[in-house]
Amino acid sequence: MRPRALLTGRIPSTVAARLDETCDVERHDDGPLSHEQLVAHVAGKDALVAMVTDRIDRAVIEAGGGLKVIANVGVGYNNIDVAAARERGVVVTNTPDVLTDATADLAWALILGITRRTGEGERMLRAGRWTGWGFEQLLGMELRGRQLGIVGYGRIGRAVAARAAGFGMRLAFAARPGSAGAGVEPAAEAMPLDRLLSTSDVVSLHVPLRDDTRHLIDQPALARMKRSAYLVNTSRGPVVDEAALVWALKNRLIAGAGLDVYEREPQVEAGLLALENVMLLPHLGSATIDTRTAMARLAVDNVIAVLSGRGPLTPVP
Ligand code: DGY
Repeated sequence: MRPRALLTGRIPSTVAARLDETCDVERHDDGPLSHEQLVAHVAGKDALVAMVTDRIDRAVIEAGGGLKVIANVGVGYNNIDVAAARERGVVVTNTPDVLTDATADLAWALILGITRRTGEGERMLRAGRWTGWGFEQLLGMELRGRQLGIVGYGRIGRAVAARAAGFGMRLAFAARPGSAGAGVEPAAEAMPLDRLLSTSDVVSLHVPLRDDTRHLIDQPALARMKRSAYLVNTSRGPVVDEAALVWALKNRLIAGAGLDVYEREPQVEAGLLALENVMLLPHLGSATIDTRTAMARLAVDNVIAVLSGRGPLTPVP
């Protein structure tokens, strides 16, 4: 009998066709499944190809009694109870590397957007409030000579750093001991998080969401930042305490923020929506045609590898 797979979202048809060659696939092209639907539809499946918005908790994993592999279409896998999967011998895979450049590019879109106030400018123009060129209009912060502080110096953090040379920025990073070795390229000054926060002009977050990174940027952390500094988050929403961020932005304890991710997606804290000095994007980090195709392909290749008895290509660590 052919193995059976559940695919919870639309992926490019050429990639879906590869999965069809190996499995009988139940597809849900038209939007996310509710948790109840996930529990109901995973039963009897050997493989689950999941989107990062699917909550794959113990209930889903147990309902999928014969599951052999959960292939997340995303590098972050905080949506999956990996411990519950391991207990049941289910392999969990993610999609590292293939989205590094797209995500790093988007972090830079936010860095440039927020420091040069492009969102504010566009809102003003579209609202018909632009009365012409003004010498002191929407003055921003220049990047040359300023310090970019990168929190989490893994693949994406380093790709963001690599792009900094073109803008003449100095680099600093803070990472868990052992997670980024000396001599990693591009060269940046390693420093404790507190020092990075108090000395950087732009702080960009690139840590995975774990118990020890939830609310890593809280009220005391924001209070440590320079009043002229900007915070950029393309990692996971709960790494930042959103209520504290609203407080810091409102009170001008920092100059601004650029966010692609939120604590309770797709909800966005009302206080953020009301502020001008924050740029808000709808979780677009990996959203390019090339990258999304590569992510889907890697997830599908992981399923094929596991179901055909070869090891997973990119198991989660
Ligand atoms: C990821 O891969 O974790 C991204 O957030 C999805 O775009």
